[in-house]
Amino acid sequence: MIQPKLIIHGGAWNIPDEYVEDHIRGVEKAINTTYPKLEVGMSALDAVEFAVRILEEDPTYDAGRGAFLNEAGEVELDAIIMDGKTLNFGAVAALQNILHPVSVARKVMDETEHCLLVGDGALSFAKKMNFEELPPESLLTERELAFFKSIKNKETFKTHHPFEFEPRDTVGAVAMDRDGNFAVATSTGGTARKLRGRVGDSPIVGGGAYADNEAGAVSATGWGESIMKVVLCKRVCDHFFNQSAMEAAEEGIQYLKKRVNGLGGVIGINAKGEYSFAFNTRRMARGYVQNGKTIVSIEK
Ligand code: GLY
Repeated sequence: MIQPKLIIHGGAWNIPDEYVEDHIRGVEKAINTTYPKLEVGMSALDAVEFAVRILEEDPTYDAGRGAFLNEAGEVELDAIIMDGKTLNFGAVAALQNILHPVSVARKVMDETEHCLLVGDGALSFAKKMNFEELPPESLLTERELAFFKSIKNKETFKTHHPFEFEPRDTVGAVAMDRDGNFAVATSTGGTARKLRGRVGDSPIVGGGAYADNEAGAVSATGWGESIMKVVLCKRVCDHFFNQSAMEAAEEGIQYLKKRVNGLGGVIGINAKGEYSFAFNTRRMARGYVQNGKTIVSIEK
């Protein structure tokens, strides 16, 4: 029987001091609620979905409730879940009025012949699968509304600025279960004041997430337009074959910076069960379980 592994992130950003506590507490809660289930036999797939749902509910993060608003002041959500055993994945993009896009992504994987549904089509599918369509304001927080108003008409604003100046981002989870199967899930509200219909890296296979039992699994956070250009999570998984887990993550982040001046971070687990993480933002909230202990950190 293999000792399961779990690593979670709550975003790579310039997280200011006053938000550090919330970021740590949320990641810790997701780990401490999910890991005991993995220990008693929960599958990696169920575990990553379960963990990400906890983070989607938490308004601290740019996922589910509390997500950034697009140019029209609306919440549009992206998510992916991937099974390292089969390489099957399900994803949704620009989905509105649903609290748990990661679970809709799971249904896309389990219940359809497709991999990725977007916009109105994703919402219709979610409703068909009995997800509750919420009023738009229920996912929107006062904090995001105030932030949106402050940047709405700011001519100098660029969508990657919040990665350097504001305290929120994508969430993700990577797990290896007792049978040695890997899975990953990533969920996000994308970037602040994004164009309507903009899709970031998170629901793009290989970009915001990748899982393959032969390599391991990786989830990304950061500026989506840069991450998807270098297919970051697939790159790190490929490097798991010839580098240590930590070296592979570091290589991916260095390449992201060098090749496209990108910003962000990755977490992962390689096929040997070794944890992997790296980031080039000021902070990245992340945590994992090692020898029965939950280790959460946010600094470099
Ligand atoms: N990584 C989140 C996004 O850019 O959409």
